[in-house]
Amino acid sequence: MIKNSAADLLKLAAGAFAGERDPWANAANAAALVFELLPDLNWAGFYFLRGGELVVGPFQGRVACVRIPVGAGVCGSAALQRTTVIVPDVHAFPGHIACDSASNSEIVVPLVAGERLIGVLDLDSTRLDRFTADDAQLLEALAVLVVAACDWKLAGIDGF
Ligand code: SME
Repeated sequence: MIKNSAADLLKLAAGAFAGERDPWANAANAAALVFELLPDLNWAGFYFLRGGELVVGPFQGRVACVRIPVGAGVCGSAALQRTTVIVPDVHAFPGHIACDSASNSEIVVPLVAGERLIGVLDLDSTRLDRFTADDAQLLEALAVLVVAACDWKLAGIDGF
């Protein structure tokens, strides 16, 4: 049997989202695909902007912190700046929020629809310096796919 790889992520995500507009369903499948296809992850999932802060959404991995203020931690920084943040060593990132003490590196990609911030896609690894510019490019493309695939009015995301 041929095993799927990171290169298949976007194709498989598009297939999983086909005919489905529910944000929780599509975010859950996106988190599962990322966690399965990208090596060396210990957490992969979403935080969504609800009631003015980032609230944890569908994910794979260990129990995570539920609420993160915009501007706080790696997730809040990516949300505030609306740019991808790669942290090679989370212990050297001022304000990093440690949900799992095993995590050593992290990448956070914002989800933006037009002018609106929807939330972030967050990946953690126990490996130092795990995330590359190629990962950023792939995950940014996935974020675009997720944003376009969902009807955000169904999810109680701020501004929708
Ligand atoms: N480390 C993140 C918090 C979320 S967990 O990694 C799942 C941060 O600093 O924002």
